[in-house]
Amino acid sequence: MENVSNQTLPFATRRAQRPLRRDRPSHDETDAPLPQRGEMFHRDSATIHFQPAEELYAHWPTPTCIISDGPYGLSGFPGDPPTPAELIEWYRPHVAAWSERSTPQTTLWFWNSELGWATVHPLLIEHGWEYRCCHVWDKGIGHIAGNSNTATLRKFPVITEVCVQYLKPARFLGGARSLSMQEWLRSEWQRSGLPLRLSNQACGVLNAATRKYLTADHLWYYPPPDAFEKLAEYANSHGRPEGRPYFSVDGSKPISADEWGRLRAKFACAAGITNVWKHPQVSGAERIGGRRERMKWKYSSLHGSQKPLKLVDIAIHASTDPADVVWEPFGGLCPAAVCARVSRRTSFSAEVIPEFYSAAVRRLARDL
Ligand SMILES: C[S@@+](CC[C@H](N)C(=O)[O-])C[C@H]1O[C@@H](n2cnc3c(N)ncnc32)[C@H](O)[C@@H]1O
Repeated sequence: MENVSNQTLPFATRRAQRPLRRDRPSHDETDAPLPQRGEMFHRDSATIHFQPAEELYAHWPTPTCIISDGPYGLSGFPGDPPTPAELIEWYRPHVAAWSERSTPQTTLWFWNSELGWATVHPLLIEHGWEYRCCHVWDKGIGHIAGNSNTATLRKFPVITEVCVQYLKPARFLGGARSLSMQEWLRSEWQRSGLPLRLSNQACGVLNAATRKYLTADHLWYYPPPDAFEKLAEYANSHGRPEGRPYFSVDGSKPISADEWGRLRAKFACAAGITNVWKHPQVSGAERIGGRRERMKWKYSSLHGSQKPLKLVDIAIHASTDPADVVWEPFGGLCPAAVCARVSRRTSFSAEVIPEFYSAAVRRLARDL
């Protein structure tokens, strides 16, 4: 049963009600009333807020996936700093909140230009995010056709953006030290006093457990939950009694197979998808706010940075299951809300410019 509603958040703050800057785009010609700060719109499991994301993080449920498509340092929309150098300070409170609210199951997809990403990368690392893969959106030669003055620019035409995957890996205490999962597995086994080779007996394998799960080198593999459970059972029944429990985080019982499975991010790769995402810039019916709607501001369509639904969908499907929570802090036209609703994820988007919010709401309401 579809559920659509418009309401105002009780936690909208005074700051959120400040007048908007004058350099915002002109309002939709339909002259629909401007949304009120704190307003939100739901359709089924997708919610779009007209409020700054930083005021909402504390109220949104824990994310399984965060789709960040914020400033690029190009003055692309009101509030976007004029240069990438200012991005670190801009993103700092957002990255801090994402880190605080995320778990080892959370995947962050960080969209930006290559320079914007390179600038913000150290901030993400500082806040505990681990780089996993850079996906290049190749918009194709059509993106610059007749529109690139390379003699003046002194560089090749740029037809890409990046969408970079980060994880928030679990950390474990080993005495006073903070250990990675790999370090902790090996140190718990060693703490049990058992020789490493007996881990193969524990898992019923020839040598895969020592070679893959308990190795100290870079060829380490995550033990699947059933293998982890076997290691933990063996260490707890054969290891030194005085050190028990082994493979525990609460000091009273070992981590269960289910709990172990939740200690890393979800990932499912559909066949044929690589880290190069070839897709033209959004056009046709998917392009929101073309001439027809006359909502021009700097660009020929409503939003200069609209992401293709297909690419946002790849990220959501790779890192979440139905019912999981998707955050879209810098919504724009809220492609993640549209994709999440269709694929039955639960999504929370935020946008601060009335025209973008209103267009995103119309889009979500109409399945565009
Ligand atoms: C790059 S655009 C997002 C484009 C979007 N992915 C799409 O496909 O339409 C970034 C958006 O973030 C919005 N924004 C900027 N600061 C924000 C904040 N603090 N909270 C929520 N939205 C914000 C901007 O108004 C802009 O529309």
